[in-house]
Order: sequence, then C-alpha cells, then structure tokens
Amino acid sequence: MYKIASIGGDGIGPEIIAEGKKVLDAAGQRFSFDIDWTDFDIGAERYLSSGLLLTDDDLRDLGKFKAIYFGAIGDERVMPGILEKGILLRIRFHFDQYVNLRPIRLLKGVSTPLAGKGPEDINFMVVRENTEDFYVGIGSRFRGSEKKILEIERELYHATFGLDIQSDAEELAYQIGVITREGARRVISYAFELAGTRRKKLTSVDKANVLSDVYGLWREVFSSVAADHPDITTEFTFVDAVTMWFVKNPEWFDVVVTPNMFGDIITDLGAMIQGGLGLAPGANINPGGTSMFEPIHGSAPKYRGMNVANPVATIWAGSMLLDQLGEHEAASAIVQAIERSIADGVVTRDMGGTAGTSDVGSYVARAILEK
Ligand code: IPM
Ligand code: MG
Repeated sequence: MYKIASIGGDGIGPEIIAEGKKVLDAAGQRFSFDIDWTDFDIGAERYLSSGLLLTDDDLRDLGKFKAIYFGAIGDERVMPGILEKGILLRIRFHFDQYVNLRPIRLLKGVSTPLAGKGPEDINFMVVRENTEDFYVGIGSRFRGSEKKILEIERELYHATFGLDIQSDAEELAYQIGVITREGARRVISYAFELAGTRRKKLTSVDKANVLSDVYGLWREVFSSVAADHPDITTEFTFVDAVTMWFVKNPEWFDVVVTPNMFGDIITDLGAMIQGGLGLAPGANINPGGTSMFEPIHGSAPKYRGMNVANPVATIWAGSMLLDQLGEHEAASAIVQAIERSIADGVVTRDMGGTAGTSDVGSYVARAILEK
C-alpha cells in the first residue's frame, strides 16, 4: 500500500491527473499493490477565492508523503509568476527536490521534427539542478534616488554604468545566480550514478566561459566527482553549443547534467525532439524525502474541460513516480502500454489522432491489465 498525494491544479491539470491515477491504479492491480490517494485542493481557484497559495498546513501535510502527483498550475486570471513561484517552485524548494529528472526519449511510433532520427537516436536523460542558480529569488529593482540602496547595489550601479545614483531617471534591476559546492556535488553525484546504470557517458552543460564564478565552481565540482567515477566518460559543453548538438546529434547524449536555468531551457528543446510537450514528463526528486512528479507542460487553460489534452506526459510522470517507489516492473509496463496505445493509434489531437484525454487513459490502463 502506497500513500500518494495528488494536486490536479489548474486548467487541464485535473483531467490529466485523473487519467494518470486511472493508469497507476491499473498498474497496482496488475503488480499487486494498492494506492491510497489524498487529493489537495491547491491552485488558482483557491487562490482567487481565499488568497492562499500554499499554507503551512499544506506543506506539513504534503511532507507526510514520499510522492506528490502534480498536474499543472497557471490561470489567465492570475498574474504570471504568482502561482508558478508561490506553488510549484515553493514545493520544489521546500522539499529540497534537488534533482529535476527529465527523460528525452522518442517513444516507438512517435514522430520527431528531426529528419532521419528515430527512437534509437533520441534516448537520454537530463538531470537539471532544481534548487539553486538563477532560481534562488535574489534580486531587486531600484531607482537611483531611492534612499535605501544596499552596498552591493551601489557597487553594481557603478560597475555597470558608472552613473550618478542620485538621479531618479536611472533605474536598475538585477538577479543573482547562486551555486554552492554541496548543491552542485549532490546533483552531479546523482547524474554520475545514473550514467553508471546506462551507457556510462555524462555531459555537463554550463556557460563557464562567461559566467565564470558560478559555473567555474560547477566545473570544479564536476571534475572532482568525476575522479570517483573513472568508468564514466565525461565532457563539458557550453549551453549555446548543446542546443545545436541536441538537434544535430542527439544520439551522442546519455546523461546530461546542468544548472537550473539552462536545464529549464534545454528540456523544452528536448521535449520538442521527443515529439512535443504532450509527451514530456519530469520528476522533482529528493532521494530521501518528498518527491513530486509532473508533466513539464503547463495548464493550457484554453483546453480546460474539453477532454482534448494529451495525458501521456502525466501518465509517464506516473511511471517515474512508481520507479522512484521501487516498483520498476510496473513503471516499465506503463511506458510499454503508452507505446501500445500509440501503435494502435489511440492518440490525442496534438499527435494527429482523434482520441479524447479519457480514451487514452482508459486504453493505457486496459493495456496494462491485459498483458
Ligand atoms: C518547468 C517550468 C517552470 C520552471 C516554471 C513554470 C516555473 O517552466 O518546470 O520547466 O521554470 O521550472
Ligand atoms: Mg520549463
């Protein structure tokens, strides 16, 4: 018996989570485990009616679970950033989910925009650092005439422009990226371990040629962890270059490890080469704590309640959830059942089909039970 928390959230979130639960329950039936779901009412509706994003009670209650199954948040009535930072990023940071694991894998039967590439070419994992870098939320905006200017801001102002900071016409904004030795070590170690279970190749992605303080430290840590893993082949690449190679030679990659913001960017690129955002799952992992599993796409409010959203990314995230709980057989049965639904043409509009969200969920669930 597993106790799992679920947050449907906004837009298409509740529909895709419903299909994911259907599939995970089927996997439980087939592989002899039960799931006890606890649903949390968190998202735009509650925020709009009560002003609450995440309460201390929410966080305390969610902390009792090893896994959270998360749909999506984002609503056209709420200013961009409020729900993203107040809910999604808050959960990632609060539970110290320092690994954001995103498989970039072209499933059988899915078409990719990359000419001449197939499932044997597109099969790698991105390990995105998930608690540091430019996501730490340290930044500010100020005008020259504002009285309370921190020393660091004063320095920045002069370093950047050498301007007269007394002038009201001048305005400046900055955001600080932070990498800590331990923050880098733990996620890089995770990536080395993962590469050891795969094709034994690890690529580090950064921008150490320009942002040399933060990513200089990142490289130093990478090299020191690499020394403990002589069986893994390693390479450093710059983030701008890696976007070229993802498109031209995706088969070069096995495991890719990268700081938070570059990981955000290159996994959207990865999602496209694996067939689209409707097919891209992600896991926010704290190996010893509470992890969260989600599709990497957003809440697509304009498709809310229409039964047209592709539930595959969410179902696949559910497979990652079971894998994290140690149900490896059930996890791979889910991915096989997704491939079966694609082979049989039971796919949603974004993949050229006519099936509804719930048709896909039911089909995948049945494929698991029939095996
Ligand atoms: C993602 C998303 C989030 C991120 C947003 C919604 C805060 O783009 O999961 O990739 O930037 O991490
Ligand atoms: Mg993103």
